[in-house]
Amino acid sequence: MKIKLILKWITRAILVGLILAFLLGFFAYWRSTNDCDHRTTPTHPMKAIVYCEYGGPEVLTLVDVEKPVPNDNQVLIKVRAASLNFIDPGVMRGPWPLRLMSGLRKPEKTRLGTDVAGQVEAIGKNVTLFKAGDEVFGVARPSIAEYACARERALVVKPANVTFEQAGSVAWAGFTALQGLRQANIQPGQKVLINGATGGVGTFAVQIAKSFGAEVTGVCSTGKVDLVRSIGADHVIDYTKEDFTKGDQRYDVIFDNVSNHSFSDRRRVLTPNGVCVLAGIGGAGLHPETWGRIVGNFKANLLSRFVRQKFVTYVTKLDKEDLRLLSDFMQTGKVTPVIDRTYKLSETAEAMRYFEEGHARGKIAITVE
Ligand SMILES: NC(=O)c1ccc[n+]([C@@H]2O[C@H](COP(=O)([O-])OP(=O)(O)OC[C@H]3O[C@@H](n4cnc5c(N)ncnc54)[C@H](OP(=O)(O)O)[C@@H]3O)[C@@H](O)[C@H]2O)c1
Repeated sequence: MKIKLILKWITRAILVGLILAFLLGFFAYWRSTNDCDHRTTPTHPMKAIVYCEYGGPEVLTLVDVEKPVPNDNQVLIKVRAASLNFIDPGVMRGPWPLRLMSGLRKPEKTRLGTDVAGQVEAIGKNVTLFKAGDEVFGVARPSIAEYACARERALVVKPANVTFEQAGSVAWAGFTALQGLRQANIQPGQKVLINGATGGVGTFAVQIAKSFGAEVTGVCSTGKVDLVRSIGADHVIDYTKEDFTKGDQRYDVIFDNVSNHSFSDRRRVLTPNGVCVLAGIGGAGLHPETWGRIVGNFKANLLSRFVRQKFVTYVTKLDKEDLRLLSDFMQTGKVTPVIDRTYKLSETAEAMRYFEEGHARGKIAITVE
C-alpha cells in the first residue's frame, strides 16, 4: 500500500518536472534573440559579415555595423585578411547540441571569424608590444569585417616573407596541427601518418611534423597527391585506391583529421607504444558521418585507457608562444600556409559554400581591401 503511494508521488513529480522543463525550454526558445532585431544606424560604420538566423551560407550578409573600439588591453586592427575554420559553418548552422550554448532560436553572437591579419590602427592604453602601423596576425573574434579588436597576447608581428592572405589563414588551423602533434611528443625519425593531409589543418600538420624531423606519410584523394608531396610528405597514400589500415607499414603517430577507421583498424597499424591523435572528424561542415565520428572518437579515447597504444583527444587553445613558433616556422621557410582560394569580404557566403564541401586544398582566405 505504502509502496503504491510512493510510486504515485514519484510519477507525479516526474510529470511535473517534465512539464516544467518543457515550459522553461519553450520560454528560453522564444526569449532567445540577438542584436539584429534592434540594430540602429551606426555612428562610425564599417562593413562586416553578419548572420541573424541559423542556416546555410545564404544567411551570411554584408552589412554596416559599428566600428569596434579597443579596450585598454586591446589592439584595433584594420583587417587585411581572415579565413574560414571548421567552427564557422558549425556556429552558422547551429546544430541543436550547440544551440544550448549559442542561442536556442537565434544565434546570440551574429558575427564570424577567428583568424586575422592586418595593420594596427590604434591601441589601448595598456598595450606595449604594438604601435599603429605594425603588420600583425593572430586571433581576433570576430574577424570577418573591415576592423577587428584583439588582445595583445593574441597577436604577433607578421613575418615579411608571408602575405596577409597567408598570415590571416594561420592561427586556428596552425594551433590545431601544432598542439595535436605535440600531444604525441614526436621524436626525430618517427613515422607519422597524417590522415586528411590536404585541408586547412592537414597542410599545416604535414609541414610541422616534417619540421619536427618525422618521416611523414600523407593520406589524401587522387587529385591532391602532388600537393601533399609538394609540402614535404615523404610518402603519399591515395585513399581512393588504398586503405592505410590494411597496409604493412606501422606508424608511431597517426594524426587523424578524419576518424573514418575503427579503433581496432587504427591500432593494427600503430607501433606497440604508438599514439593516435584524434584531431578531427573529416571535412568542414556537417555531414552524415559527423555525429558517429564524434561518438567513435570518445569511444576510442576511452578504450585506449586499457591498452598500451594511446588515442588522445584535445581542444585547440589560443597560445601566444605557439603563435610565435608558427611565425618562426614561416619566417624560416619550414611552414608555408597553403591557400586554396581567396574570396573578397562581400563573397564570404560563396567562400563558405565551397568550404562546406569539405575538400579544400589548404585554407580559404577572405581578403578585405
Ligand atoms: N581538435 C580541435 O580542437 C579542432 C580544432 C579545429 C579543427 N579541428 C578538426 O580538424 C578537422 C579538419 O579541419 P579542416 O579545417 O582542416 O577541414 P578541411 O579544410 O575541410 O579539410 C578536411 C580534410 O579531410 C579530408 N578528407 C575527407 N574525407 C577523407 C577521407 N575519407 N580520407 C582521408 N581524408 C579525407 C579532405 O581531403 P580530400 O579532399 O582529399 O578528401 C581534407 O583534407 C575537422 O574535422 C575538425 O574537427 C579540430
